Amino acid sequence: MKIEFKDKKIKDIDAQLELVFVVGKNLDHRFVSDKKDLKKLNFEGVADSTCLLVGSDKLYVGVETTQSFDLRIAAAKAIKALKTTAYKSIKVASYVEMDAHSLQAMIEGFVLGSYSFDQYKSKKSKKSLESIVLSSESFNEAKINSNNAKEAISNAQAIATSTNFTRDIVNTTPDDCYPKVMANIAQDLAKKHKLKCNILKPSELKAQKMETLLAVARASRHKPRVIHLSHKPKKPKAVVTLVGKGLTYDSGGLSLKPSDYMVTMKADKSGGSAVLGIMRAVAMLDLPIEVHGFVGAVENMIGGDAYKPDDVLVAKNGKTIEVRNTDAEGRLVLADVLGYAQQEVKADYLFDMATLTGACVVGVGEYTSGIMSNNQEVSDLLIDVAQDVSGELASKLDFNRYLKATLKSNIADICNISNTRYGGAITAGHFLAEFIDEDHKDKWAHIDIAGPAFVEHEWGENPVGASGAGVRLIVATLQKLAQ
Ligand code: BES
Ligand code: ZN
Ligand code: ZN
Repeated sequence: MKIEFKDKKIKDIDAQLELVFVVGKNLDHRFVSDKKDLKKLNFEGVADSTCLLVGSDKLYVGVETTQSFDLRIAAAKAIKALKTTAYKSIKVASYVEMDAHSLQAMIEGFVLGSYSFDQYKSKKSKKSLESIVLSSESFNEAKINSNNAKEAISNAQAIATSTNFTRDIVNTTPDDCYPKVMANIAQDLAKKHKLKCNILKPSELKAQKMETLLAVARASRHKPRVIHLSHKPKKPKAVVTLVGKGLTYDSGGLSLKPSDYMVTMKADKSGGSAVLGIMRAVAMLDLPIEVHGFVGAVENMIGGDAYKPDDVLVAKNGKTIEVRNTDAEGRLVLADVLGYAQQEVKADYLFDMATLTGACVVGVGEYTSGIMSNNQEVSDLLIDVAQDVSGELASKLDFNRYLKATLKSNIADICNISNTRYGGAITAGHFLAEFIDEDHKDKWAHIDIAGPAFVEHEWGENPVGASGAGVRLIVATLQKLAQ
């Protein structure tokens, strides 16, 4: 989809349809030229409601305020409302108020809202909409600087198309997207966007002593991969390492999941897929930050060769782990990939992303990620970005010594599950913390995206299925570090 800015009044722009946001139910704004018809149709401008008037070729969309969070969702609803129509081009005015990010957010909404996943449908949905023109004429007479507008467009395009890229990977079925396929995706990405890419195969994983990762992978016919993508600009302002859980399928292993819980576990690669999407955006934006993306791509299956509850595994950092549940496999994979990532790169920030626990979804709800960290500044950085700019929701979950103690093992250094049924997201975070070295202790945050990564209904600007959780949050964080 082509999106461009024109330094022209809205009436002087040529397009098949004009999109008008009705802000705060105000039908008296000068942009609302069909007040009578809207009244007849009982359209009041309630947030996210839409009204298409084909007579005047205008689409009206309600939005509560012109703040980013609201505009992004309303823009996505607008695009969705046009999906079944034949309109090819639309024009829209600039809606900017107190919030400088709202222009970018609106454009993100257009791109995010246009997403659909029909790879497995024999009849593909028709995509008529080809272009969107943004006019410099503003909703509240604010002066729109054309450079700022152009930057907002390129930021939004990079971020939102990369989010859609991640959504595609996550939505792809486990039989079509297994570790080797994820590695291929990473290599293609590297070629297209001038990233460095290193793929570790089983022999190299063995040489690197990543025995816990290999144990989880053992029963699958799809051999594991560890992916390392890097973006290395000259004179970077910071070095950031990202680690993603890439379980291309999580059956639970011998601690097999009940059938109802197994469905959607193709999405257990969401953290790793987010890392791939973030690397794509970082390269497109050519951020002045050195970014390393690591993905542990593994399939957790059953079989005669499967790892077992009662096994004791030795992680890359030498710690021994008593396995009491093979369904707590993500933390085992991450333990080794975190170890490898820290060995390879001394970073200023280390973020891991994972669909790690059902408990996180219970705790904060399905739309919100859980942030855990030893360092308040690091967690605040992520929480603030989520609230102010990214469009994602994130809540902090605090560590504490009592929950940490529930991971004690009688026979090994640590258990892979806790001995209490409560606080499961936090105990998983405490487990990961055992695999963070002294140098990175205060630089690390764990992001549990188990809820928002994959939701089986539409919400906000997100479609049914994969949302691309983590991509916008981390790219916005990196942009903040680049300032
Ligand atoms: N991949 C799951 C977590 C998950 C659950 C993600 C629901 C998305 C939605 C993870 O590997 C897992 O199975 N965790 C267990 C941990 C338990 C055995 C301590 C869980 O959450 O039940
Ligand atoms: Zn699991
Ligand atoms: Zn899992």
